[in-house]
Amino acid sequence: MIDNTAILALEKRVGSRHLAKRLQLQTEHSAIRLSQTGVHIYWEQIDALGPLLKALLTLCGLYRRAVRNSIDYAVETVTVPIPQLPPAFHGFRILQLSDLHVENIVDRGKRLREVIQALEYDLCVITGDFRFLTYGDYENAVICAGEVTTAIRCPHGIVGVLGNHDFIEMVPGLEKYGIRLLLNESLPIQRGSDTVWIVGVDDPHWYEVDDLEKALQEVPPTAVKLLLAHSPELLDQACRAGIDYYLCGHSHGGQICLPGRVPIINNSACARRYISGPWRYQDRMAGYTSRGTGASLLPVRLFCRPEVTIHQLVVP
Ligand SMILES: [Fe+2]
Repeated sequence: MIDNTAILALEKRVGSRHLAKRLQLQTEHSAIRLSQTGVHIYWEQIDALGPLLKALLTLCGLYRRAVRNSIDYAVETVTVPIPQLPPAFHGFRILQLSDLHVENIVDRGKRLREVIQALEYDLCVITGDFRFLTYGDYENAVICAGEVTTAIRCPHGIVGVLGNHDFIEMVPGLEKYGIRLLLNESLPIQRGSDTVWIVGVDDPHWYEVDDLEKALQEVPPTAVKLLLAHSPELLDQACRAGIDYYLCGHSHGGQICLPGRVPIINNSACARRYISGPWRYQDRMAGYTSRGTGASLLPVRLFCRPEVTIHQLVVP
């Protein structure tokens, strides 16, 4: 349980309005879920969907295969040309994990740790949704996330942002495990005498507590800026702010897809071309939406493998 001192430290960091808005929405959401009343407009929060999906997959004889798929990680490698990239960052590799929904991984992260241990990278980023639940206990998720971090070894550490499944009370616990959370904040990464900035916003999807302007306050305007946001829903704003590369997740790439990786559901408020893989926005900003490393609703995937992603920055 988070204590008063930690809450005050969070308030000092994010400001009282941000903290109050998040805590209020978290409480309201928990009350609705625990009382089983109210209207839910986000498909991932409809209680009946999990059992319904399980019954459907079982009926089709696909359930066990879908569960196996949920830990059949694909390692995706992306080359990211950035015109103004400082020379010392040519070849810099970023490991992205996203949507871990970590306390519900079927083998408690064993296979994921093996996959991560075989990779080489300079920095690890985690683009939100550490937790499976959206209400109630969060301590188990923090502990399970800590177990995943035991496999992460890189010179520039782990940086992350919160998603719509995460409570802000998880921040002190996650940071104890070495995950630096960016709550509308930024972090310079130095290599030799060169610097790029990691900019991170709090959840823009459900809590709507993102503040990109605030996150950019300390970043020099001409610096190369990599944005971490949970979902791809800040495209226009990020492009106008001069973000060079936008890393996100949330969509799970659909998670349950038709053959050919065609998603049945798009749970982000943006066009389908932005919900999976590499993309460009208005030919000015590059970005990548992870299909996610975990799974929500149920630990199942069909025609949509979970991924860990290596982004390699290069000077074009
Ligand atoms: Fe999410």
